[in-house]
Amino acid sequence: MSGRSHPAYWAFVVHRASGLALAAFVPLHLYVLSLALEQTATLDRFLAWSTAPWVKLAETVLVVALAAHLAGGLRLLAVEFLPWREGQTALIALAGAVAVAAGLFFLLNAL
Ligand code: HEM
Repeated sequence: MSGRSHPAYWAFVVHRASGLALAAFVPLHLYVLSLALEQTATLDRFLAWSTAPWVKLAETVLVVALAAHLAGGLRLLAVEFLPWREGQTALIALAGAVAVAAGLFFLLNAL
């Protein structure tokens, strides 16, 4: 297996896409939090809007992205700083499983 068919390529794609999605989310999140200071009516409207099912779904995607980025990032740090070990594909699958499990836990609590 090589190039784009290798799981490590898709691990890279997921890591980059999730990193960029998280970076885009943080300023929006801080902006909404800032509404609590002087625009409480706007914040209340936003919070009411955020209970819509598709927003919960979008939040679940974000939780999966964060969990995938965290688990995949720990794998990359291990590759970089620990002695090389075989079984990278299994570790990529484990990172994916952790991310999906985190999303399911979130969804079950959100319902
Ligand atoms: C939760 C703990 C996190 C861990 C363990 C982690 C780990 C990592 C690692 C190891 C890399 C380098 C990947 C490489 O060597 O190619 C990386 C890249 C990156 N991270 Fe994180 N990260 C975390 C959280 C975040 C958060 C919260 C954000 C955004 C707000 C973020 C945004 C990014 C971006 C944009 C990149 C560059 C991706 C790329 O160049 O492909 N990370 N992260």
